[in-house]
Amino acid sequence: MREQLEALRAAALAELGDRASAEQIEAVRVRVLGRGGELTEVMRRMREVPAAERPAIGQLVNQVKREIESRLEALQERQRAAALARSLGEARLDVTLPGARIPRGRLHPLTLVMEQMLDIFASMGFEVAATQDVEDDFHNFEALNFPPDHPAREMQDTFFLPGGMLLRTHTSNGQIRVMQHRKPPLAVVCPGNCYRRDELSVRASPMFGQIEGFMVDRAGRVTMAHLKGVLSEFARAFYGPQTAVRFRASFFPFTEPSAELDISCLLCAGAGCRVCKQSGWTEILGSGMIHPNVLRKVGYDPAEYQGFAFGMGVERQALLKLGVDDMRLFFENDLRFLGQFPSFAARSAS
Ligand code: PHE
Repeated sequence: MREQLEALRAAALAELGDRASAEQIEAVRVRVLGRGGELTEVMRRMREVPAAERPAIGQLVNQVKREIESRLEALQERQRAAALARSLGEARLDVTLPGARIPRGRLHPLTLVMEQMLDIFASMGFEVAATQDVEDDFHNFEALNFPPDHPAREMQDTFFLPGGMLLRTHTSNGQIRVMQHRKPPLAVVCPGNCYRRDELSVRASPMFGQIEGFMVDRAGRVTMAHLKGVLSEFARAFYGPQTAVRFRASFFPFTEPSAELDISCLLCAGAGCRVCKQSGWTEILGSGMIHPNVLRKVGYDPAEYQGFAFGMGVERQALLKLGVDDMRLFFENDLRFLGQFPSFAARSAS
């Protein structure tokens, strides 16, 4: 029995050399110390040992067990230390190296332009109200005085949705939505996206932004003169103080009289060029005095209230303002393009 124990110890310690792997160490532990392992087996056979020798053999068993255990522990400790040193070595940090630059995101040029436009109207006392993209016929057409057979309702213009709803073709639904729920005096701008069945091209997109604006108060207090004042002020604030403006008679079902606003061509300053088709002028928005029929539809008495409204495309203003010549660039999200327009934050910091 004694020889067996010594042999077992010698074999185990020989296997637990300095280069033993974690797997080898574990295998020895299980084989020698584990339940049903070699040492347990020896202890089970203690009864066969003559009584006189038992204490000595018992001591030897304990000693062998302790020796192997402490060797196992020492090896495991050494491996833990080595693993720690390895991982510290791998994660070593040279704090003197220059840092990696994280590219900063920025706002989309259309967002920047939209914000600047809204800022100008806010500075004139307009509040900003978002209204819905998915609309019904009443708020997109009927309340805006579109006759039932008006061509703008046609399939080739409007995206119709199941259940009688549609995607708004302009933000003028904002006028109706806000006026239905509130009483004048009102000065509100409604930014948002609109949808028409157009192909994406240099000049058009099936989805585009608009800003609708309107001002309503007691009859006589908001006139065509105020419309001209507000929109001329907007044009000069947005396009620059040297910008010339002209109002041209036009037609919309929901305004009477109606006018489109032209600004002097930004490229040739009115001299005439390819962009303004030699006219010297560029159209930027539609406007007019809100039609009495529209006021009636929202429950206002046209004898009591009066107001003006306007609507302008965001991409159109962005093309002009940023000197971009292709609408598609705004939707392709090519970072080389988007990166060319510093945000207001960067601009005001410089
Ligand atoms: N809704 C018109 C359009 O989409 C713009 C407009 C708004 C014109 C308000 C007059 C008054 O073209």
